[in-house]
Amino acid sequence: MQNITTTLKKLFYLWRRSQVPVKQLIKISRIDNLIIFLLCILNSIISSYKLLLISPLNIADIFSWLLTFTEILISSGVLILVSKKENPTISSRQIILIITLLLAVQVTKLALAATISPLSMIIPPALIISQGMGSITALAWVSIASFSWPDPAVAINNNLFIILLVCSLAVSLLGGRIRSRAQLLQLSIFVPIGSFFSQWILIGKDKISLINKQDFVLANGDIFSDSLLLAIVMLFTILFIPIFESLFGLLTKARLLELADKEKPLIRRLSLEAPGTFEHTLLICGLAEEATRMIGGDIDLIKTGALYHDIGKLHAPNWFIENQDGSKNPHDELDDPIKSAEVLQAHVDEGLKFARKNRLPKPIANFIPEHQGTLKMGYFFQKAKEKNLDISEYYFRYKGPIPQSKETAILMLADGCEAALRAMNINASDKEALEIISNIIYSRQKDGQLDDSNLSKGEIFLIKRAFLNVWKRIRHRRIQYPTSKNNTFS
Ligand SMILES: [Fe+2]
Ligand SMILES: [Fe+2]
Repeated sequence: MQNITTTLKKLFYLWRRSQVPVKQLIKISRIDNLIIFLLCILNSIISSYKLLLISPLNIADIFSWLLTFTEILISSGVLILVSKKENPTISSRQIILIITLLLAVQVTKLALAATISPLSMIIPPALIISQGMGSITALAWVSIASFSWPDPAVAINNNLFIILLVCSLAVSLLGGRIRSRAQLLQLSIFVPIGSFFSQWILIGKDKISLINKQDFVLANGDIFSDSLLLAIVMLFTILFIPIFESLFGLLTKARLLELADKEKPLIRRLSLEAPGTFEHTLLICGLAEEATRMIGGDIDLIKTGALYHDIGKLHAPNWFIENQDGSKNPHDELDDPIKSAEVLQAHVDEGLKFARKNRLPKPIANFIPEHQGTLKMGYFFQKAKEKNLDISEYYFRYKGPIPQSKETAILMLADGCEAALRAMNINASDKEALEIISNIIYSRQKDGQLDDSNLSKGEIFLIKRAFLNVWKRIRHRRIQYPTSKNNTFS
């Protein structure tokens, strides 16, 4: 009997270990929750109140209103859940933006459904959401915005409805992948052109009034002016996206790439004042990028995050070994392990201050504390023990938090492996390199640093292979090729 219990316990333990840790969603304050809830209620009221304006009102009408009201409320809830699932670090401001955009579209439909094409009302907000929150959230938003029409008197042409769905689908899917403002501009030109031709084919050629300049933009049902209006609204949306980025902390691909520019003042300062840290950062970028590509993570996010992860070392560059260049180590002169540990922790605290000062988006700033997690500063803890200092290990651990995403976890692992790989002999075999990588990753795992990261065992295996591939590249670069005696090149 005892054997069976032990076996069952073992099996249960193995099963639990094999599960990907469930990600805890970001906590939203009560006031923000209340605002979001009120916005959802307001949205449901606006989307359904017209059903109550019918006279005489009977039970069936009230029931139909109640049904629509509940439907919109539940849809808004599902939309919030989808956005949280797609962006585990989504902020309340961003959820408020999604619901407010939905509310704005419903109000616009009530006020202007008779004059403006639904394409111009639904596609531009879908572009903002797909850019800032991802394609899946944008698709969920589009489905609610397209299916719910607050005014029962407004009827939409079936073909137009299909065109609307196809265009919004294209914008939502492409918007989440677009990596530059130039591509956004192309999208804002090609989608209206596509919508124009599809309307021309599916709705009718007779509705074009190129000659009638009087109702050039606002003429309802005029497919040329509808498409032109769509292009204008999309161009304006693109113009305003940077404002949305700073107001709601949106992190679009274009913004990520802008931040990854090595000519940015903070990165320039790092390369000039802490060249060793800059070199370390570049190598980490390579390791992290390869690993993220292997597991299908967000490459642009990790590349930018890696660039800024040790930016806090700018507060005292020569206190970090990579910048010492063979000169004296200030930690030896200080000869106080506790103070040294404080200096190390300061590179995280100061990094967060730099991030705030330079208005770095939160997902980038998260790399600063999470790449160190709650790791032990082993060297200085050992020194303290040698000095017989009676002090808890707690003072020699970084303050955390531990990595909360796959990307920050990969960066932590890359940070740990970088120095070891760089220091490795070029004659070391692949097996030796893999062993070192595996040991470092295992020690992080055992220390509980990866518990919140959602990395599965398979992904950790892929990360190890990716690091090994980068090591092979480094080794290849470091091999000295013999040059010919008379210095001629062939
Ligand atoms: Fe660091
Ligand atoms: Fe680092």
